[in-house]
Amino acid sequence: MNVFLQTYGCQMNKLDTALVSSALREAGFSLTDSVKESDVVLINTCSVREHAEQRVFSHLGHLKHIKETRPNLIVAVIGCMAQRLGANLLDHEAVDIVCGPAQIPQITELVKKAINEKQKNLAVTEKIRQKTNDYQTDALEKFESAYGIEDKRIPGQAFVRVMRGCNNFCSYCVVPYVRGPEVSRPPAKIIEQIKKLAEAGVKQVTLLGQRVNAYKYTAGEKIHCLADLLETASDINGIEWLRFVTNYPSEEFFDEILQVMADSPKVCNYLHIPAQSGSDKILHAMNRHYTAKQYLELLDKARAAVADIAIAGDFIVGFPGEIEEDFQATVDLVHKARYKNCFIFKYSPRPGTTADKGLKDDVPIEVKKRRNTELLAVQETISGQLSRDFLGKEVKILVEGPSKKPHLNSAVGEGRPQLVGRTARDYIVVFNGPASLAGEFVRVKIIKTSPLTLFGELM
Ligand code: 5AD
Ligand code: SF4
Repeated sequence: MNVFLQTYGCQMNKLDTALVSSALREAGFSLTDSVKESDVVLINTCSVREHAEQRVFSHLGHLKHIKETRPNLIVAVIGCMAQRLGANLLDHEAVDIVCGPAQIPQITELVKKAINEKQKNLAVTEKIRQKTNDYQTDALEKFESAYGIEDKRIPGQAFVRVMRGCNNFCSYCVVPYVRGPEVSRPPAKIIEQIKKLAEAGVKQVTLLGQRVNAYKYTAGEKIHCLADLLETASDINGIEWLRFVTNYPSEEFFDEILQVMADSPKVCNYLHIPAQSGSDKILHAMNRHYTAKQYLELLDKARAAVADIAIAGDFIVGFPGEIEEDFQATVDLVHKARYKNCFIFKYSPRPGTTADKGLKDDVPIEVKKRRNTELLAVQETISGQLSRDFLGKEVKILVEGPSKKPHLNSAVGEGRPQLVGRTARDYIVVFNGPASLAGEFVRVKIIKTSPLTLFGELM
């Protein structure tokens, strides 16, 4: 039996897909790159913005069409949309299985059942905000540990979840309603997993959490925080680089994290710390617990502790009530923050969130688009300036593999395709070299720069 997997959304989802895919392989299924050759199509979905959900619905529409001639094709939907829409999604003509993020340990059973019994099946958490029961947590732990070492998406790299869920309830965000309450995983389990990954040849591990810097595990007298995890993981032979995403701007554990970044050469000097807005009025309405001034003070602190730290951010433009003055405060913050790069999103109301229930989506789409473009342009100038500093310099990168986008890079030679890699500070570097370098550290001299990409020559 062949399974075709498609993933939408964030690193968490990519990790879940990797876990599910190794569970299915162990149960005797094979993976295929083509829907044509598949017996099962499994879609891992994202609910963070409406656009992400629309893409899944158009994919499902296509599958419905395919099923008219191939009625035995099984379609499984997992991830955030599965949890959010539950039975309504199961009603879709194309869908056979709806399985929430907490139910993925059951995925092989659900697929086998669908094949044998030809019945639709729903597996989601009924009351998602209730304290996760121990049975469910144990099942997820076992699933994570059993399959967490086979993730070969990027050679030499792996992702390890340190916590699930979120308790922050930013007013625009659907995550707490689809991923449930915040649960930090036991440090011993995380470290054991990183050791196994190192033994399997992994050089870079990225620790994942919705608010990864809030990681907190109490064992007896001791409270383990993210800095403890990073410090312990730094001692593991074979692990060269450690990263963590994504951070919530908060003082809690911040000094500890900066300290380990400054002290350990293995902890990459990179911090992704979304501000979302530069207006205190909007930050308050977003239920973000800081002001623009406090946010910028955190960045100052980070730069004082880790001299060459690269900082990245996220912003939402067009949040309800955002007037020109609020947007200008965001532009101002971006000027001051001097991000390496940032991700900018147009506000998308998500059903069930407090912003959707209580605030009118009153910024017209044209205004959202204009603010998005304007903010991107401001950031592009800053990114361009920061990138130019690398001209003529030599950087160490971890090679990911062939570059997906063809870039303008003059030196194309025999057996030397365009490869892409990243520096410790997360700068993307494109260069020509043998494909066998994927998963290796190399040194590259930068000969050209653009705002988001450095171009270099292999040393
Ligand atoms: N609309 C637009 N962007 C959103 N994000 C989260 N929820 C929404 C929403 N409802 C953005 C935030 C977050 C990133 C992952 O997605 O900027 O940091
Ligand atoms: Fe969503 Fe806020 Fe939690 Fe991030 S911290 S997942 S934006 S609720």
